[in-house]
Amino acid sequence: MFKNTKLKVLAIFAVLALAAIVLAGCGNTTASSSSAADNGDLAKKVDSLQKLMDVQQKSVNPGLGTVMIEYGQRMGKLWYSAQAKNWDMVRYQIDEMKEIQETGEITRPARADALKAFEGKYLDTIDKAAQAKDAAQFETAYKAAIDGCNSCHKSAKGKAGDGTEIPTYGFIKVQIPTGDPTNGFQDYKGN
Ligand code: HEC
Repeated sequence: MFKNTKLKVLAIFAVLALAAIVLAGCGNTTASSSSAADNGDLAKKVDSLQKLMDVQQKSVNPGLGTVMIEYGQRMGKLWYSAQAKNWDMVRYQIDEMKEIQETGEITRPARADALKAFEGKYLDTIDKAAQAKDAAQFETAYKAAIDGCNSCHKSAKGKAGDGTEIPTYGFIKVQIPTGDPTNGFQDYKGN
């Protein structure tokens, strides 16, 4: 929620800044020195502000590709946490996955239903296994979830930056991690 409020504040700020520049430009023209050079200058300012807004929009409004990087990282950590029987950590990672997923549901509403279905079918099952502190149940649920990730990738269609159709994201395949995503930085056993 906080993230989205921050996003709105940023967006409003950017719009106000744009309005201020346009108004300042209008002021110049009516006052005295209305020259082609001034107008060109103004166009450049508006253009660079638009570019800045685009960059801000992307950073505070991450698309699914960015959301998925965090999603995948946490899914990897989750595996190591369960191996260390750190069930609180497993539950924490699930929680965080749900949170970043919500961002994806907002920024990419077309994928919202599929993401929610994934959560209900797979993440909640992993969470139940963690609550039960049941390693075997966890492993079954985790493997099913990995298959679930990949089946969504296979069936998802999209568009590349240049507008070319992407008929499937099956080229994105995840697996049970073979290496710690934090490269040993995190002690999965916790305290
Ligand atoms: C609702 C469908 C859906 C589900 C469920 C889903 N993904 Fe994705 N994932 C996508 C799409 C679509 C992309 C490509 C997004 C883009 O670039 O716009 C993607 C991209 C990715 C990427 C980015 C790859 C890269 O190299 O940048 C990773 C990693 C990833 N997904 C991991 C996962 C994991 C792990 C899960 C399961 C826990 C999962 N995804 C579940 C649809 C899904």
